[in-house]
Amino acid sequence: MSLNPCDFKIPAHIAIILDGNGRWATARGKDRSVGHWKGIGRIKPMIQRGGERDVKVMTFFLFSTENWSRPQAEVDALMAFCIAFLDEHTPWMVESNFSFKHIGRKHPIPKDVQDALQRAEQATAHNTGLRVQLAFNYGSRSEIVDAARAIAEKVKGRLLSPQEVTEQMVSDHLYTAGITDPDLWVRTAGEMRLSNFLLWQISYAELYVTQTLCPDFTPDDLDAAIAAYGQRTRKFGQVK
Ligand code: IPE
Ligand code: MG
Repeated sequence: MSLNPCDFKIPAHIAIILDGNGRWATARGKDRSVGHWKGIGRIKPMIQRGGERDVKVMTFFLFSTENWSRPQAEVDALMAFCIAFLDEHTPWMVESNFSFKHIGRKHPIPKDVQDALQRAEQATAHNTGLRVQLAFNYGSRSEIVDAARAIAEKVKGRLLSPQEVTEQMVSDHLYTAGITDPDLWVRTAGEMRLSNFLLWQISYAELYVTQTLCPDFTPDDLDAAIAAYGQRTRKFGQVK
């Protein structure tokens, strides 16, 4: 599919659940980790296409707070792949003026993975182009709990009264503080569920679910999602 970007509204922020790696591998008689590596390999082309379309922010769900309960070998593979991904892709992200930002709780991410996330963030910190948020040990509910705790501390310290707590203030205490909410929320591999991904931020996002498994997801599939978004009428609760 060739998308003429002039023909469509472009979402400023696209959030993507990368799902279906296990199914892709199992269907080929391979270990699930093979599917994960293949799926992670799809991220660079997605970022590049997003950049070409003038998307400002892309958020990828790499590892959830629930994923720790997977078999240890699979968790270990995902940790190693995260480091390999960051080390491989930081140099061209730097050259492209793109930035990486980790969103999620640091604990209990292993130290070497935390260090790799920090290196990638620091190397790209001054870049002003497309921002790539990596949701790793991310869960929306724990993010909201962390925000509630931070706000509660301020109330306790009398820096704030309960009446001064607003929606904007809650947003400003999330890991995504200062970042425009997703306009388009994409899920690969067909499941019709939100899976604790950016629940606060996607209140008015347009949802797009494709049957395509993450390891098969191409930049043209991203264009198809953008084109679908371009045909939606966003109403934000109003009559349009
Ligand atoms: C998504 O692929 C990757 C992660 C959650 C880390 P899955 O591993 O969930 O793939 P399926 O759902 O089993 O096919
Ligand atoms: Mg899955």
